[in-house]
Amino acid sequence: MKRMMVAGNWKMFSTVNSATQLIEGIVGGLPAPVTERNGDSQTDVVICPPYTVLGTAAHLLANSPIALGGQNCHHEQEGAFTGEVSAQMLTDIGCSYVILGHSERRRDYHESNSLIALKALAAVTAGLTPIVCVGESLEQRERGETADVVGTQLTEFVRGAGSGCLAASIIAYEPVWAIGTGKAATPEQAQEVHADIRRRCEEQYGLSPMILYGGSVNANNAQSLFQQVDIDGALVGGASLSVESFLAIIKAAVGS
Ligand code: 13P
Repeated sequence: MKRMMVAGNWKMFSTVNSATQLIEGIVGGLPAPVTERNGDSQTDVVICPPYTVLGTAAHLLANSPIALGGQNCHHEQEGAFTGEVSAQMLTDIGCSYVILGHSERRRDYHESNSLIALKALAAVTAGLTPIVCVGESLEQRERGETADVVGTQLTEFVRGAGSGCLAASIIAYEPVWAIGTGKAATPEQAQEVHADIRRRCEEQYGLSPMILYGGSVNANNAQSLFQQVDIDGALVGGASLSVESFLAIIKAAVGS
């Protein structure tokens, strides 16, 4: 039985009220293998809400097995960076994970592989586990460049952050064309890229990180994705905003 993770990326959704309802629903419906964990549970559950509800979420999750994560952090510890949040601040409010290098941030905020590496170093220094996103666009896939694009993202990440940081990180393969489109990668497409990521990490760094798949994961396709040997769980967007579908994905992970 492999260790699995289901992480919810809430993106820019939720108010204190809706987050409270969502968290109470998820906590109340967790399957026994997650709630009765004694340190060796095989399925970890993480939610990554917006900054404004992290405090509420930390309070509601205090006695639950669900961990909390941020969706981004700054690479400096503190300073005159208006609008930014540091990795230490995330730890301080109760986070143990942070999503870094999401394609929406690479695209909309021009985050480079080297900046993402600096953020990951800051995150690990603050005691957080980075969930580092990689993935190709539709045009890159159609040109047959998927392995090169993902390989370069990984190599440049390790060049900046070091293999020790990779060892402390989780990778999320999120093909850009599958995010928010309802068109998930097929289990075979995802497995092929996951296997390639694992092979590169093993050959180049002697590491075998946890590798999550992200992109239109839902209650119907989670099980077939989780059955793939190199898929260790999911980073879930839209479906993590519904109690019913997020719980169904968690149950699929528990049963895989
Ligand atoms: P969707 O599950 O909504 O496609 O989003 C995936 C994602 O971006 C998770 O980080």
